[in-house]
Amino acid sequence: MAEKNAELQVGVQNHAFDVLDGTIGPSVVDISSLYNDSGMFTYDPGFTSTASCESKITYIDGDEGTLLYRGYPIEQLANHGDFLETCYLLLYGELPTKAEKDDFVHRVTYHTMIHEQMSRFFSGFRRDAHPMAIMVGTVGALSAFYHDSTDIADPHQRMVASLRMIAKMPTIAAMAYKYHVGQPFVYPRNDLDYASNFLHMCFAVPCEEYKVNPVLARAMDRIFILHADHEQNASTSTVRLAGSSGANPFACIAAGIACLWGPAHGGANEAALTMLSEIGSVDRIPEFIERAKDKDDPFRLMGFGHRVYKNYDPRARIMQKTTHEVLGELGIKDDPLLDVAMELEKIALNDDYFVDKKLYPNIDFYSGITLRALGFPTNMFTVLFALARTVGWIAQWKEMVEDPSQRIGRPRQLYTGYEQRDYVSIDQRR
Ligand code: CMC
Repeated sequence: MAEKNAELQVGVQNHAFDVLDGTIGPSVVDISSLYNDSGMFTYDPGFTSTASCESKITYIDGDEGTLLYRGYPIEQLANHGDFLETCYLLLYGELPTKAEKDDFVHRVTYHTMIHEQMSRFFSGFRRDAHPMAIMVGTVGALSAFYHDSTDIADPHQRMVASLRMIAKMPTIAAMAYKYHVGQPFVYPRNDLDYASNFLHMCFAVPCEEYKVNPVLARAMDRIFILHADHEQNASTSTVRLAGSSGANPFACIAAGIACLWGPAHGGANEAALTMLSEIGSVDRIPEFIERAKDKDDPFRLMGFGHRVYKNYDPRARIMQKTTHEVLGELGIKDDPLLDVAMELEKIALNDDYFVDKKLYPNIDFYSGITLRALGFPTNMFTVLFALARTVGWIAQWKEMVEDPSQRIGRPRQLYTGYEQRDYVSIDQRR
């Protein structure tokens, strides 16, 4: 029960606010009445102290290094579950029964094809376009093809849009890849599981048989689980903000993909592998560590640090294990980049700069090495992140749309520009 037990004194005026408790994690001060009561806004650039919404989906304890989807630890889901089960959990709140899971898998599987006309969209892009550019465009274009699932007020249409996006994202991602490498598109196959189907659409060619390696498919599936949701990160907040205006879900997810692309967010997996290649050998690590610590050098260790985790990112641990499994399965005994990564991690974790700032490897540190071993070029890494995160975005979007207290998101600002001034005609300007 909320009680007015937070107070803010401004001059001689006192303002009282409710403190709301979650099930776990920090409580929040409900300052929504502040502007009406005092005429002031709060100021929190980067939202470091702001809870933008109430959510029941994902919980992170950054100090402990804990990540829970609907209460279940990520380690348990990654080790014992599979991606579609995780999708069901994120969307509906509970792990599915056998019958519910079969039904869900069936429904996703039978939505994997995309409208044939959509394939022509791809040829409008340059062959050297970044696959994330293709993703932003083509996922946004879904709203032009699936008019029967854009009415956000209709629960059935919301459900169909959710399934369509989870089902079609691997097809679109694989097509972006095939287009980029100049190979024919490969249609989805309903006899394959989600991850195997994706690998098949990426790596099969019409001229020979392609057998999906089950160990690699399992690794792919686990990578999808690890990326499925991460509470109110930048891209998820983007999806929620876009959706708060009533925009259709395909447009909202395209907005999320655009936000994810940045190197501080999902683009870090690509940037981390590029950095490891640039370092190249273990003896060059100290030089890069020094650069990362130099305030005058913009260089940062990519795949290190996190806004919320001030401990080892639990996803990075599982990813590191997955890296070893994939390299083992492929018989890659020596991967110079893995050697650089492991040594870099060791050195950074013992360096006062990184220790004091609580900078630990995040999920992106090892994912690049794994994805590269699976056969993906670096520019596909963020696409895979987007594919997996789609369910998180959708679940968060659905939760927001179904919240009766939902209003359009509209932050305010601290204005530091000019006060009102008069227009000057062009001949009098200096
Ligand atoms: N290398 C060197 N110094 C760093 C790093 C890094 N990777 N990350 C943070 N710092 C320093 C930063 O310079 C700052 O120092 P000071 O307090 O002296 O100014 C301090 O640590 C705090 O950093 P911040 O930028 O204020 O922290 P933030 O919470 O705004 O940024 C971050 C978080 C993830 C953007 C940042 O750590 C970063 O740029 N990391 C590299 C990019 C990366 O790996 N991103 C993937 C995040 S995980 C996947 C995802 O969720 O998308």
